[in-house]
Amino acid sequence: MKFNVLFSLIFLIFLNAKYLDNHSCNECHAKIYEEYQSSFHAKGYFNDTLHRKIADKVSMKKYDCATCHMPMADNLKDLLSGKARPDKFNKMHTDAVSCYFCHTIAYVKKAHTFNINTKARQAKNYKPTLYGRLDNPVKSDKHSSTSNPVYAKKVCMGCHSHKLNENNVTIFRAMQGKEKNKKEQNSIGCIKCHMPEVSGGAEKIDKRTRGQHASHKFLGIHDVEFRKTGVDINISTTDKQLSITLTNKMEHPLIIQPARAKYLKIEIQHKGKVIWKNYAKEPSEDKQGYFAYSFKKNGNTVIIPAHATKGRVYNLEAKEKKTLLYNIPIVKKGDKVTVAFYVQLAKSDCAKVVNLSESNLTQPQLMKEEIFIQN
Ligand code: HEC
Ligand code: HEC
Ligand code: HEC
Ligand code: HEC
Ligand code: HEC
Repeated sequence: MKFNVLFSLIFLIFLNAKYLDNHSCNECHAKIYEEYQSSFHAKGYFNDTLHRKIADKVSMKKYDCATCHMPMADNLKDLLSGKARPDKFNKMHTDAVSCYFCHTIAYVKKAHTFNINTKARQAKNYKPTLYGRLDNPVKSDKHSSTSNPVYAKKVCMGCHSHKLNENNVTIFRAMQGKEKNKKEQNSIGCIKCHMPEVSGGAEKIDKRTRGQHASHKFLGIHDVEFRKTGVDINISTTDKQLSITLTNKMEHPLIIQPARAKYLKIEIQHKGKVIWKNYAKEPSEDKQGYFAYSFKKNGNTVIIPAHATKGRVYNLEAKEKKTLLYNIPIVKKGDKVTVAFYVQLAKSDCAKVVNLSESNLTQPQLMKEEIFIQN
């Protein structure tokens, strides 16, 4: 396979460079290190139960998730082929999406199944050069620094763009659809929302008195405040019809991950009594208000998409606005419409197949709520 040739090349290059582990950055970039540690990039096979359980379910032999979840591994090829297993004593394995990895991406190559990160060639026995976006960074004794335009253009797309399985079925996608006229997505938008500037210099001494740095918390769906900002909800009523307009403000689809479900819970109250709901028991009864992936293999529903032969997703595309219409009883002045938007980090069926039903991952979490009073 072409991939393997490429990986072995990358692998050879790595042997030359000295790996600086995550913790070694703490010496000078303490703030960034602390932010990063709280982020999901620091999570992986050893400290994210959902990840490990799904990985083991997919295969107890091969760990091909390593490409994106353990990209720094010095034995990447063996992990992918099943010759080696994740090793908790190897820092390149426990570091997950490591600082060093992100900061040595030289360019990102587009590919059909998933994009490929190409690492910078590092000269033997010299201190490594780390790439970033700072103008004129100060020298340090641990590494050289160079600004590289790939950080604005592509740095997130190596792992986040898309992934297809062996049967050409899309497992996840954070990039925009393929519609013509759409500009190719770059990473600067991702950085602006997910790495906002926060106070404090980029390193401890802050010799350049920058006073600010890009946050490395990479806030996302897990953050209660941040996740309120992704979608706007507008409510209006006409005679017997409820209209809810959802606007996805994010530069990616509403649903990226196949494990997730996001859905609306709508209630209309008249004098404090519920007179209408958008579903009786399961949120998925409301086909327009339930956003999720679903997969099939040979006609049967499957939960883990690794070997699925068909997949579909009901989604809100990047920047898409969608109006949902519901037939409702006549509403009178003072009636109250409550629209709550929930996320389930792991759908119940998904949690079940990896024995995580009891975990709080299946508990619906409120993302935001809007209230409308009829006048
Ligand atoms: C092409 C890169 C890529 C590969 C290969 C890959 N993943 Fe991921 N994975 C990602 C990205 C990017 C995210 C973050 C996206 C998100 O959270 O929406 C992610 C998120 C996840 C999550 C969600 C974690 C959470 O926050 O709840 C799980 C679980 C997961 N991956 C499991 C796996 C498993 C298991 C494999 C191997 C069978 C795998 N992934 C292979 C890129 C990849
Ligand atoms: C001995 C101190 C020291 C250590 C250890 C260190 N750095 Fe730095 N780093 C610096 C200094 C100083 C700068 C320049 C900051 C500035 O100009 O404001 C810098 C700048 C950077 C930049 C910006 C580069 C650019 O061109 O925009 C990145 C990225 C970076 N460091 C990553 C790391 C990572 C990753 C680690 C751990 C693997 C690390 N550093 C460890 C001192 C250090
Ligand atoms: C080397 C691969 C890789 C690169 C490059 C990468 N990511 Fe990720 N990212 C991941 C993986 C894997 C996860 C999921 C980790 C998990 O939950 O186990 C993730 C998770 C996330 C999350 C989810 C956080 C949450 O709690 O919901 C956000 C946001 C994110 N990444 C943003 C970015 C941005 C912005 C960039 C570019 C600056 C980027 N990522 C570059 C692999 C990568
Ligand atoms: C306008 C702001 C904005 C932009 C631009 C943006 N995001 Fe997001 N992203 C969010 C918000 C808000 C959330 C959390 C709410 C949600 O997922 O519904 C999120 C969620 C995520 C998640 C977690 C999804 C999950 O279910 O685990 C990942 C991964 C992610 N973004 C990656 C990216 C990448 C990669 C880019 C660049 C292509 C990007 N984001 C661009 C605002 C943004
Ligand atoms: C998912 C990829 C990713 C990971 C992991 C990551 N960074 Fe960064 N880092 C970036 C990007 C992208 C920027 C540029 C942000 C900008 O300029 O707006 C950046 C910027 C920086 C800078 C320059 C400060 C600034 O404001 O631009 C330093 C220093 C740095 N990172 C250090 C680290 C350290 C230390 C770690 C680990 C503790 C780390 N990074 C992990 C992507 C990453």
